[in-house]
Amino acid sequence: ADYREPRRSQFHFSPRYGWINDPNGLVYYQGEYHLFFQHNPYGVNWGNMHWGHAVSKDLIKWEELGEALYPDDYGTMFSGGAVVDLHNRSGLGTTAHPPMVLYYTAAEKSWMQGLAYSTDGRSFKKLEQPILPKVTDGNRDPKVIWYEPGQHWVMVLYVTEKEEQHSMHFFTSTDMKSWTFTSKLNGGKGGDRYLFECPEFYELPVIGGNTGEKKWVLTGANSQYAIGTFDGKTFHPEEERMFSQQGRDYYAAQTFSNVPGGQRIEIGWWRTHTNQGASSFNQSMSIPMQLSLKKTPRGIRLIRQPIAALASLRTGETSLVNKTLSAQAANPLAAFHAELAELQLQIKPNTAKTIEIKVRGLAIQYQVADEELVIDNVRTHVPLLHGELQFTIYVDRTGIELFANDGEVFMPINHNLDPTNLAYGISCTGGTATLQAGKLYTLQGIW
Ligand code: FRU
Repeated sequence: ADYREPRRSQFHFSPRYGWINDPNGLVYYQGEYHLFFQHNPYGVNWGNMHWGHAVSKDLIKWEELGEALYPDDYGTMFSGGAVVDLHNRSGLGTTAHPPMVLYYTAAEKSWMQGLAYSTDGRSFKKLEQPILPKVTDGNRDPKVIWYEPGQHWVMVLYVTEKEEQHSMHFFTSTDMKSWTFTSKLNGGKGGDRYLFECPEFYELPVIGGNTGEKKWVLTGANSQYAIGTFDGKTFHPEEERMFSQQGRDYYAAQTFSNVPGGQRIEIGWWRTHTNQGASSFNQSMSIPMQLSLKKTPRGIRLIRQPIAALASLRTGETSLVNKTLSAQAANPLAAFHAELAELQLQIKPNTAKTIEIKVRGLAIQYQVADEELVIDNVRTHVPLLHGELQFTIYVDRTGIELFANDGEVFMPINHNLDPTNLAYGISCTGGTATLQAGKLYTLQGIW
């Protein structure tokens, strides 16, 4: 692969070869960010699950290394997490060289949870025996975190209980190898995918909350989440079943542990339409996003913002101010052409009925009276903020990621853009609107 294939996204991670799905074991270790991922190294469809591996210094440019975990006698390598054992509590490294510890599911045979470790970030060794016996068939996706107040580790594991009850089980450990069950929380049943697969669990300060206020967030693979408190053993939800993404085909997101500065940075599987023609690879990851909790009139909500380091992709900038939009007005974006782009638009709808942004042929339509945003048949409610719309839109070959309302709306749309169409536009119908400010950036690829 030369990363120049026509359908390969240019600033999103995708594998050199084969199928990928969930991000796994996101961790910062010895000066590098590590991205492991569900990988089929033998084909462009799901199967033969390994943990693939890539590293980055800045979360933007990735270098793919070989496979980190291979299927074994216990099963194939399903999803899981990673942490750095800073004080060598596992005894698998030394205090001078703390180990990176990976947790995975040995799936499809034993359904036990396994542990692998590394002291160089390149070679990985599994413990001979899995560390957690099967709870039920199909239990999977261990997420491990350090719980500072109690000085112990916590594992969250997805378990299918009777009658297809999705549930998250909590365990604790001090040596990282022996685990004690402490509690569980039920999500949805069957087709109701609340708390189904791929748990993610972390604590964040509440922006705009009481002084020092922090809350815990528990998420399943579809990004539906609960907010609550955690005492080290039991998670007590206070608000449940919120949706933190309004787009399509964003799945199994995970956050990095051990990030310098402590930011909570997320990457998810972006199910792209990349299995086309003679493609040698399939699927990709989202851009990295910073998560925060914010107090809103409706309650505490999770917000996502593109990480600041994405600015390193910018190669050119056009600024626009105070442009009147109408059905007849000249298109203020007419002079801008780009295959890869970042757009920041601040719009006041005034008397307009609809506002339409065109991104390389893809229509982004806002229906003012209903406060509804419609892209590629996906519809979501985006209330005006102080009478305004604020969009940040990332454009790559395989689609767009749109952020609105300071990150409360995250709308990824996997839609392969027409390679011959590099045009952008903005207009409105039914009255006039104002493009108060616009920044249009051309971006460079990462490969
Ligand atoms: C989510 C998932 C996980 C599982 C993995 C297998 O996409 O089904 O629950 O570990 O994919 O590839």
